[in-house]
Amino acid sequence: MLLAFDDEAKFARALAAEAALEMRTVARHRFPDGELKLTLPSRLPGRVVLLRSLDHPNEKLVELLLAAQAARALGARQVALVAPYLAYMRQDMAFAEGEAVSQQIVGRFLAGLFDAVITVDPHLHRTETLAQAVPARRAIALSAAPLVGRFVAQLGLRPLLLGPDGESAQWVAQAAQAGGFEFAVGRKTRRGDHEVEIELPAVELRDRHVVLVDDVASTGRTLARTARATYAAGAARVDVAVTHPLFVGDALEALAAAGVREVWSTDSIAHPSNRIALAPTIAAALRGLDAE
Ligand code: R5P
Repeated sequence: MLLAFDDEAKFARALAAEAALEMRTVARHRFPDGELKLTLPSRLPGRVVLLRSLDHPNEKLVELLLAAQAARALGARQVALVAPYLAYMRQDMAFAEGEAVSQQIVGRFLAGLFDAVITVDPHLHRTETLAQAVPARRAIALSAAPLVGRFVAQLGLRPLLLGPDGESAQWVAQAAQAGGFEFAVGRKTRRGDHEVEIELPAVELRDRHVVLVDDVASTGRTLARTARATYAAGAARVDVAVTHPLFVGDALEALAAAGVREVWSTDSIAHPSNRIALAPTIAAALRGLDAE
């Protein structure tokens, strides 16, 4: 059975259809003081999959705590989490003394609740595998990068793919391989939440069509700065493709102001830029779990 929340019903229906799972909704009530009450189907089968993408994660982490334990109390013996976007993965070390290492803390929290965690393009930079961050019995990191490459290719475009920073190299290389494109990777220095500096790679960008590829866009400043630098280097057109379209605040305006023409994303987070469906890829991973 697939359990989902009503604000992710569209993705849940697609995933349930692809994975041939019965889909049921977790009802949510918010009390006046802000506490949550969740209501699950009163009888659950032995194996349950909970869908929750972890954009706006703080409240959703409490939902996961309540839902996973309630599912077990209602009969589920194995509970898997499908979190197309997995939050808190970027803080993978203490950059300053005293900082909480959120990746480890949230990862262990999820591993304590779920038998399996499936996600897409988690931001693993200094951590080699998802299992190191989320030590659940099964921790499965899928990648949307080949889907991104094939999506751009089927548009009939022949761009250079450009990753803004070293962390994006893993995704841009896979997307380029899947689409048969050239690729290059820049360097980023982050000065603050909204301040980044980008150094472009030494490739000829004059008159090129460039697609910027990254795992996640939050404030959009990384991509906006990269787009400005790419145009300054003579590019003819810049588009953007990301796995996780967080696009907080004025991110899309920042991209438009930088001259970005098209913004494409996967449906890991519901957003008007969604063009690439993840349900088939995630359903295949669920079938793999079933076979174990
Ligand atoms: C970090 O390295 C990620 O891959 C993204 O580049 C970053 O999180 C994007 O953040 P923002 O959109 O706020 O610049």
